[in-house]
Amino acid sequence: MSTAPLRVAVLASGRGSNLQALIAARDAGELPVDFVAVGSDKARAGALQLAQDAGIPTFTLDPKAFASRRDYDFELFRRLEASGAQLLVLAGFMRIIDGDALTPWVGRMINIHPSLLPKYRGLHTHRRALEAGDAEHGASVHYVTAELDGGPVIAQARIGIRPGDDEPMLAQRLLGFEHQLLPAVLRLIAEGRVALLPPDRVALDGQPQREPLQLREGKLVD
Ligand code: GRF
Repeated sequence: MSTAPLRVAVLASGRGSNLQALIAARDAGELPVDFVAVGSDKARAGALQLAQDAGIPTFTLDPKAFASRRDYDFELFRRLEASGAQLLVLAGFMRIIDGDALTPWVGRMINIHPSLLPKYRGLHTHRRALEAGDAEHGASVHYVTAELDGGPVIAQARIGIRPGDDEPMLAQRLLGFEHQLLPAVLRLIAEGRVALLPPDRVALDGQPQREPLQLREGKLVD
């Protein structure tokens, strides 16, 4: 196992609370990573400010400056490669990524998605869980592949849906668990304990996992 911190870049389009949770975990000595870049498609993303406050280099890449998604994504990954990142974390990055552009990063890029995948890929996950009358909801961290929100799931956090929950309440309650889930998964990757087993399995300590790890009381368990 390598002792050098894993070099990580984060992409985010919004307020950046998941990024904040990662930075807090690193500051607490719980995450052996070095944040080498935070990138966004939105110049006003809160995540960029959070990164700057933490002394992490940032960049914005405006999609309007590119003729196509593909051109944008190739430039995005060129920048990320240049940052020296070994792993990419999508933390609220609200863009679909070109499959060819991301292929070199398969196994080195994870995303946090607010549903119990494979349920509710895409948007409005909280609303869809409520409308379906689900008893539980959750968040997943998965390896990114060309299939939207479709890559192998590493770990999940589950919460019960309560009578009277509405979309904002559910989103807010889940967010607190996302903030535990993402640092916990990143830690396992940084420690070299979790890896993608191509094409579609996740290995923990070299063992292929049948099911995603589950977050219980702040810890990931089998
Ligand atoms: C989170 O709910 C995450 O699961 C989803 O986008 C949201 C980002 O929130 N992919 P934040 O910007 O990290 O606060």
